[in-house]
This record gives sequence, C-alpha cells and structure tokens, in this order.
Amino acid sequence: MQSELSERQLQKLELNFEENLYIYSDSIKDQLLPFTDYETINLNEFLKDNNSLNVEIGIGNGEFLAHLAENYPDENFLGFEVVKRVFKKAVSRIQRKRLENVKLVHYDGSFFVSLLPEKSVSNFYVNFPDPWPKKKHHKRRLLKTPFLKLLARKLKNDGTLYMVTDHENYAKEIMTNLIPVDDLTSAFKSVYVNELVDYYPTKYYRKFANPGSVFFFKMKKL
Ligand SMILES: C[S@@+](CC[C@H](N)C(=O)[O-])C[C@H]1O[C@@H](n2cnc3c(N)ncnc32)[C@H](O)[C@@H]1O
Repeated sequence: MQSELSERQLQKLELNFEENLYIYSDSIKDQLLPFTDYETINLNEFLKDNNSLNVEIGIGNGEFLAHLAENYPDENFLGFEVVKRVFKKAVSRIQRKRLENVKLVHYDGSFFVSLLPEKSVSNFYVNFPDPWPKKKHHKRRLLKTPFLKLLARKLKNDGTLYMVTDHENYAKEIMTNLIPVDDLTSAFKSVYVNELVDYYPTKYYRKFANPGSVFFFKMKKL
C-alpha cells in the first residue's frame, strides 16, 4: 500500500490562459480526477518573468489587484475568484487597463495555492473574506489554521500575508487560528490594527465596512 502510494504518478494541471490573462473553472475542473495529486505548478510557464509574485484570493471585481498591478509594473499578480459574474468584471478591468503583469483564475484559490512552489510568493492578500456570520457556517470560513499554515509555506522568507475583515468574530477567530502558525509574526505591535493609512479601499470596504471597525492583519514570514 505504502509503495503504491509513493509510486502514484502526479498529474500535471494544464494552465492555458485565454488571451494570456484568464482561466475559467471549467478548464480546470475538466482535468480534475478523484483521488489524484497534482504536480507543483511551474510558474515560468505562465508568468512573464521571475519577478516577485503577489497573490490575491477573492479578488471580487479586481479593483484592488488592478491598483497594485498598475503601481508595480515590474511585479507579477495572480488573482482568484469563484463567482463568475464578478470574475468577468475583473477580467474586463484588467483588459481595459492593458495590464500585462496579471493572471486571473476563476477557481478556488485554496486549491490552486496548494500547487504553488514553496517559498514562491512575496505577498498574499485576502480582503474581506466571506464572514459566514451564522455560527453553524463558521466552519466554511477560509482562514483556518491549516490554510494559514499553507500560505506561510508558500511565502518567501520575509514575505507578507495581508488579511482584512470587518467582522469582529472572524477577526477573533483569525487571531486564534494564527497561534499555531509558528512562522508568521505580526508586523504591528498588536496582532491586528483598526486603521491602516495607506490601505487601498476595495469595493466591499467602500460599500459595507464601517471604517472604525475594520481589522487589518499584516503577518510577516520569519
Ligand atoms: C466579501 S467578498 C470581498 C471581495 C473583494 N475582496 C472586496 O473586498 O471587495 C469575498 C470574495 O471572495 C470570493 N471567494 C470566497 N472564497 C474563495 C476562494 N476559496 N477562492 C477564490 N475566491 C473566493 C467570493 O466569491 C467573494 O467574491
């Protein structure tokens, strides 16, 4: 059994970015097989160069990612979004701005991130992850300890994980979930701060958040 497992071939996920920019979930789902493990993604196959890689999970309409990509033309940006309607808005935005340093994936970021090379990401951004406010739904929240550990493994040394929520209960859970993640430490004096002067406001922030009760995390990889 053990040798069968170790001999199991890893499948290669083919990533064909349409218009050199985006991939829809169908082209990923069509390749997925039950009980199958996948090869680590070779970033050189789709990034334009070896410059820094920045990843946002849950890009919504892509405003935040586009802002970063415009301001850091020498860096690479990879964004994930599961809702097709908003994903399409992000695609149009990046096309309008003719940003060539962005790739967008219409798929669960947590699966895709698990296939990235270890220590390959300079910055992760998670802006206003779905809070799942009902207690019985808390288990669906994205920022659980195993996922935080995965993000930490994918970060370069000295890389940063930015997380923002306006949901106090979720912020408290993130604090607790971070405790076992030994290789991440807060860049602030406290675990989170309620104001971040240079934060570029996302659509969610502008529409729904009460600026006084937002929780910003900035975790450095040791
Ligand atoms: C509350 S919205 C915030 C959107 C945007 N970040 C903003 O601040 O305006 C959360 C977004 O994360 C997306 N999302 C949730 N889980 C995801 C996952 N596992 N992978 C990619 N996107 C995800 C949702 O579809 C939704 O668009």
